[in-house]
Amino acid sequence: LFAGPVDFVKGVVALDGLPPADRAEVCFAGRSNVGKSSLINALTGRKTLARTSNTPGRTQEINYFALGAAHYLVDLPGYGFAEAPRAVVARWQALLRDYLAGRATLRRAFVLIDHRHGIKAPDAEIMALLDRAAVTFHTVLTKADKVKAADRARILDGVRTALARHPAAYPELIVTSSETGEGLATLRAEIAALA
Ligand code: GTP
Ligand code: MG
Repeated sequence: LFAGPVDFVKGVVALDGLPPADRAEVCFAGRSNVGKSSLINALTGRKTLARTSNTPGRTQEINYFALGAAHYLVDLPGYGFAEAPRAVVARWQALLRDYLAGRATLRRAFVLIDHRHGIKAPDAEIMALLDRAAVTFHTVLTKADKVKAADRARILDGVRTALARHPAAYPELIVTSSETGEGLATLRAEIAALA
């Protein structure tokens, strides 16, 4: 899937702007600044395909990328960004909820978690939304390069314990770094397997 062309299709701010539901798609969800856009760039080998930023809340739209002619990769707006105005947060949440519950062609979600921090309350909320929508999801740990080897097992144990509460969760974790390339081949293979 990643061998062919990857193109930005459009940014969507409301459900009626979604492209026709005529291709299988997977989405990346995660807190602001967790590294969603960086991971999309790393997976596709395109440094500037998805806009990345040090400013949390940079991706405020649902961004559609075409993987070849038959699949979409969807970068969702980051959640858990406390400094955004309340009305903006409410609008993002409604958009996310409606998208996750209503998109017939959504095959799987990937919930990105900062490896340093593990699962926080906003992550558990998204996971509960996915449970209710019956969208199975993989958990992807990001920024693994920032975690000392000695700390990894303890953090991952905590993540596994939290995931056990979510019926839509796959138990396997995918540990990644957009900086070092760790785990990217595994993640590409998971996405390609949904084709
Ligand atoms: P929003 O669009 O605001 O929701 O953020 P995002 O989840 O798309 O995060 P983004 O990819 O923009 O990355 C946020 C910051 O984390 C940037 O400064 C990235 O350079 C940094 N970053 C992302 N991935 C990694 C990684 O694997 N390792 C390290 N060290 N830094 C990373
Ligand atoms: Mg982003």
